[in-house]
Amino acid sequence: MKEILVPYNNQVTGHDCLLTTKDKTSVCKVRHQKEMDFYQNMDQSLAHFTPKFQGVIDVTVTDDGKGYCRFETLWNDTILDKHSLHRDYILDRDANDEKIAYRSADPVQLERENGFRSNDYTRDQKFEESKILQDTGQNPWVDRVHRIGRHVKYIGRTIPYIVLENISANFERPCILDLKMGTQIHDLDCPREKQRKHVAKNKLTTTCTMGLRLCGLQVYECGSYHCRDKYYGRGLSEDGLHENIKLFFSCAKENRPEVLSIISDKIYKLRKAVSVLDGYRFNGTSLILMYEGCGNTTADANIAYRADARVVDFAHSSICTPRDQEGPDSGFILGLDNLLKSIEKFRC
Ligand SMILES: Nc1ncnc2c1ncn2[C@@H]1O[C@H](COP(=O)(O)OP(=O)(O)O)[C@@H](O)[C@H]1O
Ligand SMILES: [Mg+2]
Repeated sequence: MKEILVPYNNQVTGHDCLLTTKDKTSVCKVRHQKEMDFYQNMDQSLAHFTPKFQGVIDVTVTDDGKGYCRFETLWNDTILDKHSLHRDYILDRDANDEKIAYRSADPVQLERENGFRSNDYTRDQKFEESKILQDTGQNPWVDRVHRIGRHVKYIGRTIPYIVLENISANFERPCILDLKMGTQIHDLDCPREKQRKHVAKNKLTTTCTMGLRLCGLQVYECGSYHCRDKYYGRGLSEDGLHENIKLFFSCAKENRPEVLSIISDKIYKLRKAVSVLDGYRFNGTSLILMYEGCGNTTADANIAYRADARVVDFAHSSICTPRDQEGPDSGFILGLDNLLKSIEKFRC
């Protein structure tokens, strides 16, 4: 079955533009062999903490003749089986829900199907620290990825993508925090020069001391989103990071304290799982924390308990034999411990 994939609205950071299926149950990311290997070979104890890996698809990128990119794929039976039993039904439901489309020629302009046009952006424009999303309905990082226009180089080509469970699919107004984990971000086989750059950058950020760095966030509050990006995150001190974690949970703490217990509990469980995985290195991964921003009371238990924590982005991770890499990933565990401490501090 053919399907047009559309840009994913809730991307808070990242290099390439993530796509989503029209039913929004999956996201598609340009395939990196290392990431795919990780998903396929990781220990099953991690399955609860990562998006489900649903397969690989080929995406053909073309110019639709009206100045926009068209991302088209042909689902094969293997993926359909794993993917969704109700796919046909859901596809129809959201058929008119495409809010944005990527320009094919001049990625500086971004036009959405709802008529909103952000024609005053330039490629060099710096991001504001905090930006309200009310008008656009999407994280400004999606605009940035669009402006950089990496997708343009794919026009006329067929590119392999991996298909992952969309971890924000069950949220109406997802509050999302992306924390880059660990004290080492680079790959074990990354070129020396690049390693040096990463190490220098880490020293200036909370990565080195805390095993944690803010990479992006969006918080829904009073009808709009507040967003922060990775450049903002790089400038944070330890106290600054703590304040931002507090800000991320501020709405939940007041109205739905269960969110904090659900997320802390999952982080504890993740720590337990990771601490026995000898030889695993989660370099460059992100821990994504999420809760439902919609509704302000605990009256609706269905909404009150919607919260989750998952690890994504395994493009630089590795699974070595304990002989090559001794012990679990201590930098990753340090990050989890500091995150738990930070949550505990403002929870009381
Ligand atoms: N499975 C997923 N479901 C929902 N959102 C995702 C998923 N994977 C990634 N994202 C979103 O996309 C962002 C970037 O993803 P990531 O895999 O880190 O890309 P990159 O390799 O370009 O850094 C994340 O911060 C998150 O907002
Ligand atoms: Mg990433």
